[in-house]
Amino acid sequence: MLNEVRDNTLYFDGCSTVELARQYGTPLYVFSESEIVRRCSELRRCFLTVWPNTRAAYACKAFCTPAMLRLVQREGLCIDVVSGGELYTAIQAGFPAERIEFNGNNKLRAELELAVDYGIGRVILDGLQELPLLEEICAARGKRMNVLYRVTPGIQADSHDYIVTGRKDSKFGIPLDDDVLYPAVRAALDSKWVNFLGFHFHVGSQLFDNAPYLAALEVVLGLVREVRRRFGHTVAELNLGGGFGVTYTDEARPPYAYFLDPLMARLEAFCQDEGMTRPAVVIEPGRSIVAEAGLSLYTVGSIKDIRGVRKYVSVDGGMTDNIRPSLYGAVYRGLLANRAEEASTDTATICGKCCESGDILIRDARIPPARPGDLLAVFSTGAYGFSMASNYNSSPIPAVVLVKEGRSELIVRRQSYADLLATAVIPESLQ
Ligand code: LLP
Repeated sequence: MLNEVRDNTLYFDGCSTVELARQYGTPLYVFSESEIVRRCSELRRCFLTVWPNTRAAYACKAFCTPAMLRLVQREGLCIDVVSGGELYTAIQAGFPAERIEFNGNNKLRAELELAVDYGIGRVILDGLQELPLLEEICAARGKRMNVLYRVTPGIQADSHDYIVTGRKDSKFGIPLDDDVLYPAVRAALDSKWVNFLGFHFHVGSQLFDNAPYLAALEVVLGLVREVRRRFGHTVAELNLGGGFGVTYTDEARPPYAYFLDPLMARLEAFCQDEGMTRPAVVIEPGRSIVAEAGLSLYTVGSIKDIRGVRKYVSVDGGMTDNIRPSLYGAVYRGLLANRAEEASTDTATICGKCCESGDILIRDARIPPARPGDLLAVFSTGAYGFSMASNYNSSPIPAVVLVKEGRSELIVRRQSYADLLATAVIPESLQ
């Protein structure tokens, strides 16, 4: 069991959260290896082993550390990176280059050079200028790269505005206009330096409905048919992106099969009708691999009960370690981990320690009446928490601990004050 209560204390993947806080300090990110492994196993069971010629590329923007990348590699996943930094991390972690795919709407020359030098598996071209740039880099090195085109299928998915990406008005992908897309496909097919594999789409993030995926697939199948008709070329690979929803509070997380079964069934039927071999299928789950595997631990400090208004319970972290509530209005569930069996008779707003009124982690949480020194646990913080952390207010980024069945290991040490100054320089003129 991932979460258990014993002796009034929350246990997470077999570890006492009170003990973790004592040993590693707070704020602390805790990741359950067992839960990450369960998600990867679900993907193997319902997708990778059911359908030949499929891959799952973990979108490592959700949580990217060398230990995490080792873990997903061991579990048989590929990875999707979106920056030179993620690519570098992957290579440093020993991730096989051919199992890395590179996304992003403005890949820099230096990033593409790194990708070609490392010899990664695929570059997902996100705009028209990327092909000539990549060709130039490949030509200079005498290397050929596999590419896909990311397209915007013109689908509106139901999620926060900041995380829907499939509609035409988007900074991502290539729009479907005939006179834009097909010349780009022609150019890739004719290129000596790239091997055009197919199309990529990503409709959005934290989605619970399979309809936008199916609608986007339908659009892309139209492209597959058109590329055959116009160029006599059969697309070899389709990448359906990520975005599979998770539980933060009381949402019911649909199993992967809910999304993937109908997508694969539609694709198989299409290929049968067209008399073509089914393309390889790739998905890019990020959040759904790690969100629920993550728990944040904080120590309660100042408490202000503003009579007739609101009670504020401050913790030692906040928007610097989890910006999602401030940025997207994301809602989380928390509890007092050292008093987990006590009745939640109080209503309090859990806030961080940053100099921002918007630094609120949970609005109107139902918890036992908190006291300074209590341990607050916030659930489902594994995705886009650590990876979006900042040093605002010169706050050191918390440590990350990996737990499994009662044992814990540090995978990212807590930043020190000295780390905060590691890149700063006092120029000669100010000495
Ligand atoms: N593939 C592509 C091309 C993407 O852009 C993304 C996410 C994913 C895969 C993975 O999506 P996931 O399975 O994690 O939903 N910071 C935001 C989420 C931004 C997602 C950006 N792209 C948040 O905290 O909700």
